Amino acid sequence: MSTSLAIPTIDISALLTYSSSKQQRQEVATELLNSFATFGVFYITSSTHPVFSSKKSKQILDATTRLFALDPTQKSQIPKIQPGGFTRGYVPVGGESGSATKELKEGFSYGYEWKPDELEAVAKTGMNGLQGPNAWPNKPILDQLDQGLHEGTFKHILQEFYLNVCEVAKGLLKGISLALGLPEDELAKHCTTSETISFMRLFHYLPYADHQHTSQIGSSAHTDWGFLTLILSPCKTVGLQLFYGNEWHDVPSLENTLVVNGGDYLSLLTGGKLISPLHRVVSNGQEERYSMCCFYYPDYDAKIPLLVQDQEVKGQAVSGNYSLLRDQRAEEGEDSSRTSVMGAERQDAKSVATKLLNGDINFGDYIVSKWTQVYRKDRAY
Ligand SMILES: [Fe+2]
Repeated sequence: MSTSLAIPTIDISALLTYSSSKQQRQEVATELLNSFATFGVFYITSSTHPVFSSKKSKQILDATTRLFALDPTQKSQIPKIQPGGFTRGYVPVGGESGSATKELKEGFSYGYEWKPDELEAVAKTGMNGLQGPNAWPNKPILDQLDQGLHEGTFKHILQEFYLNVCEVAKGLLKGISLALGLPEDELAKHCTTSETISFMRLFHYLPYADHQHTSQIGSSAHTDWGFLTLILSPCKTVGLQLFYGNEWHDVPSLENTLVVNGGDYLSLLTGGKLISPLHRVVSNGQEERYSMCCFYYPDYDAKIPLLVQDQEVKGQAVSGNYSLLRDQRAEEGEDSSRTSVMGAERQDAKSVATKLLNGDINFGDYIVSKWTQVYRKDRAY
């Protein structure tokens, strides 16, 4: 059985309140740096922000469990995610996988809710490859979901939760900037439209009995590709695991916290100083698990100035164990007729990382290229 590590919990209140002193923010920044550099994963909390309250946590869990309790016919009516970088809608069981193993989870992906006047404005310039409207269930299903929710509608609860988590992410940007010795507002300058391309995923992990994880898993071992991931897992069920010291360790849920992990993009930009940790989700064979994950992105065209210019460090970063550098279709069990394509794509993944580090490719283009690798439809695992 996996053991738990002493993963720290960081109170980030100083990053979320205007009244804090620079000294207080710097202290939090130092804790963030230590945690990013040790595990790449840590818990955050604050008594000053509603997203950490039991009430809000219960609210989003209620909405999420109601969504996944819909019958299969109703779920089939929810628009499904489509291939490509833009991901909104229902993710059926087996609809995605980061490896050759079938992932026993279903999900719902949503993000920024565009207001009509914003849509009008953006129509003149066009949306980028990570922007677009949410794909909500139809009205009869939404009406059904609303019944039984204590405060607010299904859509409102989800939208509010997303905006709250984005707000917390913005606070973290301040802390990470300080931790890296940059001006406090430096990373925020590269995240001015983050809310419109970042997104939330509600996940429902199904129990399975394959304890070797050879044929089924909740979520395959992977690193996240993006900038920051913030996760609420209000269930007591253990499932998230971190690979550390050559073994897997449980990352248990803690009340009134979010789990944060760095992504490949952030890690590469810091020459690997901030870790993008290898993690997975497994099952105890009995209990279902729900989690809400926010994938927080910088701007689509962000080319955050490299924080590390040392060629040797850059080289080490590119040879690191990032999912970015693996073609996630090129796993055992793949159709061998596609091998040559896979080989070319694997090469391409490495050159994409180099381009990223040299500032020759922007974040959005990089992410769009990655999403094509995990979409599953009529494709072998
Ligand atoms: Fe992940």
